Amino acid sequence: MIHIDIKIAVIGLNHGYKFANDILKMDGVSLVGVAGNDTLASMRAKKLQVPLFTDYKDLLEQCDMDGAIITLPNHLHAEAVQQCALKGIAALVEKPIAPTIEAGQAIIQYAQTADIPLLVGHHRRFSNKVNKIKEIITSGLLGDLVGVHMMFALAKDHAYFTEDWRITKGGGPLLINAAHDIDNIRYITGLTIDRVYAASRNQIRNNKVEDAASILLETKEGPTMTYFVSDGVPSPWSYELTAGENPKYPQNQSDCYFFFGTKGSIAFPSMQIHTYDEKQHGWDYPLHTKKIHVDDNDPMTAELHHFIDVIKNKAAPRVTGEDALETLKVVLAIKQAADEKEIVSIKK
Ligand SMILES: NC(=O)c1ccc[n+]([C@@H]2O[C@H](COP(=O)([O-])OP(=O)(O)OC[C@H]3O[C@@H](n4cnc5c(N)ncnc54)[C@H](O)[C@@H]3O)[C@@H](O)[C@H]2O)c1
Repeated sequence: MIHIDIKIAVIGLNHGYKFANDILKMDGVSLVGVAGNDTLASMRAKKLQVPLFTDYKDLLEQCDMDGAIITLPNHLHAEAVQQCALKGIAALVEKPIAPTIEAGQAIIQYAQTADIPLLVGHHRRFSNKVNKIKEIITSGLLGDLVGVHMMFALAKDHAYFTEDWRITKGGGPLLINAAHDIDNIRYITGLTIDRVYAASRNQIRNNKVEDAASILLETKEGPTMTYFVSDGVPSPWSYELTAGENPKYPQNQSDCYFFFGTKGSIAFPSMQIHTYDEKQHGWDYPLHTKKIHVDDNDPMTAELHHFIDVIKNKAAPRVTGEDALETLKVVLAIKQAADEKEIVSIKK
């Protein structure tokens, strides 16, 4: 039997390093080259023992491949997808799809015109825990969903903020981190966020981007949501530090999302559900608490396997450009609301 080898390149070797290592461990998939233009990238390329290109366009030009994983800074996503489209190869582009709606739309257009598969890296949609809570909420176990509260509250290390793109327009915790939580909440609840209000500040570090924000989200279907974001406050209450899905971060036994329904509530990722007996309903009676077990998985690896299936034409991209653009619209509406101190309606 002929063994078909799928050839992939990884563009960007910080977040992209895990993909590169995962590819090396896979059967039937080869890593043709990597791109990066800093010392960390050259050290990592040596460890991977694959060719390094300091300009990713040379990598795309000189190596034969079926797909590329783009883990470049946000403002470089559009140009990199355009280059993949010109080569006619599949693209997995990191989240957020882009820093602006226009750039996000351009990415979708490049992929459509060249008819290349486009997958956006909202990898938490591949998390067993995320999919379990989506199933629980959809099943009606909590009754009608009334509200949600989310937190991304943690302190990043000082070195993180030496990268210029992270602390200037196009970076910041709303675009870099809230993009994950907003996408999660859209995916888990299936709700359409249509109006947002936010108050943000930058007084922890005084950079050009926010370092904290309090956010209120309204949905077309009715449930309301609150969300606190900060990347400069020591705290365990974030997906990163509670879900235990990324070995880079120590896991804390805490929660980051809370879902409230007419029949019960659930915390994520502990999966603790609180309900009442039908005959003993209300605050005079004890709440019944149970924990739902979920087997852990590695969502980034699951996403990579899905990308390979997309390349092989065995699956359609589970996170399309259009869907990722809806997440981006919410994130940018939050930024606009905070800047203008006005409620912002999100256009379809
Ligand atoms: N899905 C996730 O959980 C997750 C986590 C972290 C970052 N990200 C996303 O991944 C992307 C990259 O983030 P990061 O933190 O790794 O960024 P980074 O700035 O730390 O790393 C960027 C990488 O791209 C390389 N690079 C930059 N310009 C280049 C060029 N012109 N040619 C070749 N290489 C070039 C750099 O050398 C570096 O290896 C962003 O879109 C970010 O939002 C996603």
